[in-house]
Amino acid sequence: MDLVKEINRLKKEKNAVILAHYYQVPEIQDIADYVGDSLGLSQQAAKTDADIIVFAGVHFMAETAKILSPDKTVVLPDLNAGCSLADACPPDAFKKFTEAHPDHVVITYVNCSAEIKALSDIVCTSSNALKIVESVPKDTPIIFAPDKNLGAYIIKETGRDMLLWDGSCIVHEAFSMDKLIELHKKYPDYKIIAHPESEEHILNTATYIGSTSGMINYVKQHPDQKFIVATEAGILHKMKEEMPNTELVPAPAKEDNTCACSECHFMKMNTLQKLYDCLLNESPQIEVDKTIINRALLPIERMLELSK
Ligand code: 13P
Ligand code: SF4
Repeated sequence: MDLVKEINRLKKEKNAVILAHYYQVPEIQDIADYVGDSLGLSQQAAKTDADIIVFAGVHFMAETAKILSPDKTVVLPDLNAGCSLADACPPDAFKKFTEAHPDHVVITYVNCSAEIKALSDIVCTSSNALKIVESVPKDTPIIFAPDKNLGAYIIKETGRDMLLWDGSCIVHEAFSMDKLIELHKKYPDYKIIAHPESEEHILNTATYIGSTSGMINYVKQHPDQKFIVATEAGILHKMKEEMPNTELVPAPAKEDNTCACSECHFMKMNTLQKLYDCLLNESPQIEVDKTIINRALLPIERMLELSK
């Protein structure tokens, strides 16, 4: 069976849209109607007039799409496609934490469950985090969760007082500083660009720090430069497509990592076959409790409003 042809046929027949993150395997990125970062994907999910959203990403992203479009069917090719950041923030413990600091504004990174969003004042993504934090009055203390690395980067950039939750991305924490130094010795004229989920010592080596879309745009704006790219390796597919003549090398991961570069095994659980199956069967679907949707919608909408 020609999967690409069948997916395109089903998509038309069912009025479905395929939204994919830059970390998805190349064949999924190639068949998607829209490929983007977390913010772009939320914006698309909020405005689509499709009846079915096939979310080629991880669970928290598909959940965000369901919160924004509760009347639509949202399917995820593999329901096990989770995220270490979302896993690091259980709702009960987080609720206690927020209750212990009632004077703090609660800002959560979009990489968390719907229950955590429902406990938040405002949500952010890596592309608008600085702007969202700066939108809070200067004398107001902030709780930031769940990514301590992104949180530390925001504190450094804004000088804001923030209490950080102890979560991290296993993919962005897998970069090896020693190997990165070695690689840079081999390619001394390459600039390092990094995602803010990376640890501080990696970020300190970077010429540019930004979201996946930000990194792609930076590469496009610097056609005469060469880059070492410190984020999930799936992003190289879009970068190479946009800038076929730019030299790009993925940042190396530590010895014990499953692959030489950093790959997110959650993102890679989705395959073209699973995407076809979920579109055909309209399953597995993302379901979110109505009360949680009602509470989680406002902090997401606040973010979208501030990101216009
Ligand atoms: P962005 O694409 O929003 O930068 O997020 C990166 C990421 O790790 C998503 O899981
Ligand atoms: Fe989560 Fe990191 Fe994978 Fe993104 S790359 S889904 S933050 S584990």
